[in-house]
Amino acid sequence: MAFSPTELLAIARTVALEAGELVARRRSEGVTVAATKSTSIDVVTLADRECEEFVKARLAQLRPEDGFYGEEGSDSTGTSGLTWILDPIDGTVNYLYDIPQYAVSIAVVEGVADPASWKQLAGVVYNPAIEDLYYGSVGGGAFQEWNGTITQLRVNEETLLAHALFATGFGYSAEVRSEQAHVLTTILPAVRDIRRAGAASLDLCAVASGRLDGYFERGTKPWDHAAGSLVAREAGAVVGGLNGAPEGESMLVATNKQLFPEIEKLLIK
Ligand code: IPD
Repeated sequence: MAFSPTELLAIARTVALEAGELVARRRSEGVTVAATKSTSIDVVTLADRECEEFVKARLAQLRPEDGFYGEEGSDSTGTSGLTWILDPIDGTVNYLYDIPQYAVSIAVVEGVADPASWKQLAGVVYNPAIEDLYYGSVGGGAFQEWNGTITQLRVNEETLLAHALFATGFGYSAEVRSEQAHVLTTILPAVRDIRRAGAASLDLCAVASGRLDGYFERGTKPWDHAAGSLVAREAGAVVGGLNGAPEGESMLVATNKQLFPEIEKLLIK
């Protein structure tokens, strides 16, 4: 099946808006925790599962030959060479507490759900709580659609680490959290401040839109960042791991090209 990043983006956008509507409706009806995953604080809600089933079925209608990789366990290879990567609700803990900072994140890549080898094609991050939509396609730029206005996104030009506002995330494992706490002892004194808003995809879009100067986190999975990292890249961010590695579980950093080596030095320490 032939594809163009723009057409794939249009599909991702349509499905993300539909899925977001479902997620918001379920939120207003009350949230039920269905299970826990990696640790007792890593929750899955019924809405996470329902949203994943919905998106999987919609994409199977629209792009039956593509593969699919979702946070809640769906994994199929397909025959087209493309893979859709879904986080049905990124920021599940915010969703649970009705903090309006969560998103449906849908990306499509050539290859499999692995930043070491994928070619990113298109991505959409949609926060249905405030109807805030971010999207991008490779070579096509990054955009935000909010309140009837479409804005092309561009990362901040800030060059001084001491004036840079970063965000991070902590994951759900006690071991990763202890390391994050340790890393913060070096980074916090060196930057303007650190935010922890609770949804990696939206943190990456905040870097794209200049509401943050940068973001770093250890332990993210492809579904957390596949769409947001494309949006950030298309807005001019450098996104990667440490020492030239691709972004991945060991580290994900997104910031402008001047700040990347500065924050990288501190993260390597
Ligand atoms: C989590 C959020 C959080 C980040 C975690 C992710 P989830 O995703 O993006 O901000 O710190 O690493 O796992 O569990 O809400 O889909």
